[in-house]
Amino acid sequence: MSKVDLSKYFKPNLKQARKRTGNTIEEVKFNLSDAYQKIGVNKTYMIHTYGCQGNEADTETMAGILELMGFSKAEDESKSDIIILNTCAIRENAENRIWGELGRLKAYKRQNPNLIIGLAGCMAQEENVIERVLKTYQHVDLVFGTHNIYKLPEYIETALFSKERVIEVYSQEGEIIENLPKVRNHHFKAWVNIMFGCDEFCTYCIVPYTRGKERSRSKDEIIEEVKQLVKENYKEITLLGQNVNAYGKDFVDSNYTFGDLLKDLNELGIERIRFTTSHPHDLDEKTMNAINDCEHVMPHFHLPVQSGSNAVLKKMNRHYTKESYLKVLDQLKKTVPGISVTTDIIVGFPGETEADFLETLDLVEKAQFEGAFTFVFSKREGTPAAVFTDDTPEKDKKERLYLLNDRINHGYLLGSQRFLNQTVKVLVDGTSKNNNEVLAGYSEHNKLVNFKGDPSLIGQIVNVKITVAKTWFLLGELV
Ligand code: SAH
Ligand code: SF4
Ligand code: F3S
Repeated sequence: MSKVDLSKYFKPNLKQARKRTGNTIEEVKFNLSDAYQKIGVNKTYMIHTYGCQGNEADTETMAGILELMGFSKAEDESKSDIIILNTCAIRENAENRIWGELGRLKAYKRQNPNLIIGLAGCMAQEENVIERVLKTYQHVDLVFGTHNIYKLPEYIETALFSKERVIEVYSQEGEIIENLPKVRNHHFKAWVNIMFGCDEFCTYCIVPYTRGKERSRSKDEIIEEVKQLVKENYKEITLLGQNVNAYGKDFVDSNYTFGDLLKDLNELGIERIRFTTSHPHDLDEKTMNAINDCEHVMPHFHLPVQSGSNAVLKKMNRHYTKESYLKVLDQLKKTVPGISVTTDIIVGFPGETEADFLETLDLVEKAQFEGAFTFVFSKREGTPAAVFTDDTPEKDKKERLYLLNDRINHGYLLGSQRFLNQTVKVLVDGTSKNNNEVLAGYSEHNKLVNFKGDPSLIGQIVNVKITVAKTWFLLGELV
């Protein structure tokens, strides 16, 4: 089959998505014009989310836009007029799952030819994905990327009334769009974007290409959003960004940084402030002090290290060494006594030797992480590491993952055990997955706690005395 001309849909291409311009990012207010306000009346939608918290926050925005257009949430797929898959491109298995899902949805399209199937999110930012959709997934009607969610109303109108396929993806970010409506998934916990994009370009990672240039939301917009959440009785916010420690670095006319933002948000009356994710080389003293000084900022820090080998860290373009990471960590633990630290680690990066891997195990031992997301390296087309020589057999990589997880689990358990016989504050999320009579929630240090209690406590912060400490969770009694 001949190569499809993508330029029509994809503006411009993936290579250009790498470019970082010095242009200042404009702020634009979203406003739904009258023409779109009734399009969705008596119609329903469903959105499936596959990615990180940023992706979940985008789903809330898509739902907000659709509901503003009159659509309501469908009870099940077979009755839905629109099904959108909000995708993730971080690893190959994340993508394979989506291809499978798209295949599965074909049956609904046969039953209901008016059904609109949409593909959104980070996968849509990849050229090879668009190519494959054009060639082999004819039943996908709508494709849009991470930079043009705000244009959903016009896309939906075209797909519904002109019955045309709508495929439009921007490779480069435009403005920061404010005033976007949201239908939040929780009633007492909320995501709050503080920045978009990433300029780190870790060599394995696709995010700088799918999410574009690093750009911070204005502090006033963030503060307004949080004030509103306080009014609506939200108890916990999680500040989102690919590298929240770089917040504000793109401001041309101010020195306001992440530490300042934490301090300002701490004053607004929200009970709990969390944030994710941080890059070690941007973590500064001001942020560490703010965590310690601000009573509402929770004592949990997710600080991805990726590897303990200096050679691998260099090839990953991480801008720190094992020693400097441990130094920052030590300073963090001294500044915020008792803080719980978790991390992300990749094994089997191209060229990682057994000795490199042992350095990672050694780092895990020294860092005493209380949890980690661990991954086997996955090759992402278009990233520098995709062409690095990778001669470690897959079975060795799996073995490394197994050994690493074993070590990490030990840290999880120690992290749990330190709360034995202590009383912790738990924000009650709901009932336990395995037992309806048991409540589940997270402590300030982000430990999962199960205890017996009345479901009327859901959404409240309660005191629980820990009686049993397991690797993955704590058991306790309401006090
Ligand atoms: N911005 C965040 C990470 C976002 S991606 C940060 O830097 O912390 C979440 C995690 O996925 C990363 O920390 C990394 O451990 C993992 N990851 C990213 N790209 C990957 C790849 N190509 N293969 C395997 N794991 C990857
Ligand atoms: Fe990816 Fe690195 Fe940016 Fe995190 S900091 S999103 S791992 S490029
Ligand atoms: Fe996935 Fe995109 Fe998030 S690739 S991890 S959904 S930024």
